[in-house]
Amino acid sequence: MNAPLSLQRLGQLCASCRRCGLVDQRQQVVVGRGNPAARLMLIGEAPGADEDATGLPFVGRSGQLLDSLLQQAGLDDLYICNAIKCRPPGNRRPTAAELTACRPWLAAQISMVAPDLVLLVGATALEAVLGIKGGITRLRGQWHQAASGPLAAVLAGCRLMPILHPSYLLRFGREAEGSPRALTRLDLRAVGVALAAPGVPPAIPS
Ligand code: URA
Repeated sequence: MNAPLSLQRLGQLCASCRRCGLVDQRQQVVVGRGNPAARLMLIGEAPGADEDATGLPFVGRSGQLLDSLLQQAGLDDLYICNAIKCRPPGNRRPTAAELTACRPWLAAQISMVAPDLVLLVGATALEAVLGIKGGITRLRGQWHQAASGPLAAVLAGCRLMPILHPSYLLRFGREAEGSPRALTRLDLRAVGVALAAPGVPPAIPS
C-alpha cells in the first residue's frame, strides 16, 4: 500500500479484504463517512450490528449520541472511521491481531484525509493508534502526538485527543458536573477551540 489511493479504491480493496477471521461473519466492510477533506478525523473502535448492516460507522445508538455531542460542539465537518473495518462477533473487543491486520487500511485512510486533529474514541482506538493500553480516563481530553507507535509516520504533525466512548456515556443517565458526558462535552469544546486557533495545540509525546 505505498502508492496513493483514492478513498473509493480503498473501499473496493477493503471490501475484498481477507486479512483476518472477521471476514467470515461480516455482512459489510465499514470504511468511513463524512468529509475526507476535513481537518478533523475521528477514529472509533469497530462496527457494531447497525454499522455492519448499513456499511456506515457510528450509526447506531452510540453513533447517534456521538453525532449529537459533535453537533452541539459545532464539530460537523469531519471524517469518521474505526480502527477496524469489520464487526467482531457479539461486539466483542477487537483482538491485538485484528487491530494489527486492519492497521494498513487505517494508515491509508489517515494518509488520504491528512487531518490536523484526530479524536480517538475509546480505549481501543487509543491502543490501535498510539499503542497505549489502558488509561483512557486519565489521558482523555489532552492533546497527544504520535512521536512513536504503529502509525507515527502517517500522523506526523497531527494532534490526537482521546475521548470517552459514547457506549460508556450511555451507561450514565445523568449529566452532572464531572460526569462522563459532561467531561466529553468539555473535551469536544477544546477541539473546537483548537480548530479555530492558528497552528496545532501543544501536545504530550506518546
Ligand atoms: N462503536 C464504534 O466504536 N464504532 C462504530 O462504528 C459503532 C460503535
